[in-house]
Amino acid sequence: MRTTVGIIGGGPAGLLLARLLHRTGIDCVVLESRARAYVEQRQRAGMLEQGTVDALRECGAADRLDAEGLIHHGIELRFERERHRIDFPVLTGGRTVTIYAQTEIVKDLIALQLAEGPPLLFEAEALAVEKPESQAPVVRFVHEGREQMLSCDYVVGCDGSHGIAQGAFPAEVSCVYAHDYPYSWLGILADVPPSCEELIYARGPGGFALHSMRSPSVSRLYLQVPNGTDVKDWPDDRIWDELSARFAIDGDWRLERGPITSKSVTPMRSCVHEPMCHGRLFLAGDAAHIVPPTGAKGLNLAVSDVRVLARCFAEFHRTGSTQLLDHYSELCLERVWQATRFSYDMTRMLHTQPNGDVFDRRMQLARLRRITASRHAAAELAANYTGLPLAL
Ligand code: FAD
Ligand code: DHB
Repeated sequence: MRTTVGIIGGGPAGLLLARLLHRTGIDCVVLESRARAYVEQRQRAGMLEQGTVDALRECGAADRLDAEGLIHHGIELRFERERHRIDFPVLTGGRTVTIYAQTEIVKDLIALQLAEGPPLLFEAEALAVEKPESQAPVVRFVHEGREQMLSCDYVVGCDGSHGIAQGAFPAEVSCVYAHDYPYSWLGILADVPPSCEELIYARGPGGFALHSMRSPSVSRLYLQVPNGTDVKDWPDDRIWDELSARFAIDGDWRLERGPITSKSVTPMRSCVHEPMCHGRLFLAGDAAHIVPPTGAKGLNLAVSDVRVLARCFAEFHRTGSTQLLDHYSELCLERVWQATRFSYDMTRMLHTQPNGDVFDRRMQLARLRRITASRHAAAELAANYTGLPLAL
């Protein structure tokens, strides 16, 4: 098999890149190791920056998003039993965010790609990228029980944090900067209308909690738990009790409970892989970097990488110049580091450090008080949360 751009991974990054390239007239093939049903059900992110929504609209993948997405104009910070609203349009000159689940974006992009192309192969597992420094890199993969080769002009690794594309970078050209956090998130989906109109980020007595949503009838909530937590130790009542305690305020507010339909534990890590390209192999999304979920940057960063990369490929296709492609890594990394910093700061400000002392707690409180008392500090949070501009 031969193509211009071989894309490894059919998550949001790989699928959106394929769509953007297809619309520019550049042919590509997507290899996805999992089955369609698995990819479409994997519960993950849900908060989309304005730029992510714009990108999906520009490529004709936003009909359902426009009909069902929930536009949010702010978030609430809760601490010390107080509630404080951060108003995005007022602080950013009109920006908003949209709640629409990653599972739904993936379903929409898969349906479009299967209807209109380019080829998308499920249960096609890439084993290795060969000769990335050459003019003709090859992806070796297994599909329908047979080992096969995909010959490409370029390869893009959109294969997530456990993918194989990173492994094709020689050790001497790549640097990995990583930080592990001493806590995880227990995430639930519940069939109950959200108890809030906007997302709530809470620094509660027992740690962090987040109230998000998926629709007017489905709530998504997260709870800080120790690393190594087993969901079996968290029956439904214990989860609701702990969430209620962490969101508690002085005043009239109650967390509504309902049947929990999904529970999972996610560890938290920051990691940046530099550079994001080597020869004719590019990395995008979680394959290149991961952030802790506080602030919801992971999916949005994956989308911004592929928007930049699609523009680099479009320039090459139009003019034959590789000037932009040659600078892909630098074009992305400034924004990647800014999102890494924002996610780190949000995480550190809101989570309870397992061995933290009183001084740590007073620093967290001072940060929260600054954000809620100073328009400049709140505007800085709002600018980062709603999304920094692309370099291209
Ligand atoms: P992925 O979505 O990981 O997609 C990579 C794809 O590549 C997968 O479909 C995988 O099956 C495929 N693949 C892997 N290896 C191969 C191979 N060898 N050959 C072929 N295909 C391969 N972000 C938030 O903002 N908020 C959240 O609440 C949140 N929750 C998360 C929960 C979990 C458990 C995880 C893992 C991530 C979460 N994230 C969250 C992060 C966000 O979902 C990711 O940043 C986003 O999925 C990145 O998209 P991607 O396309 O780069 O990678
Ligand atoms: C969601 C997840 C996040 O990490 C976040 O900061 C906001 C929303 C969500 O899954 O809805």
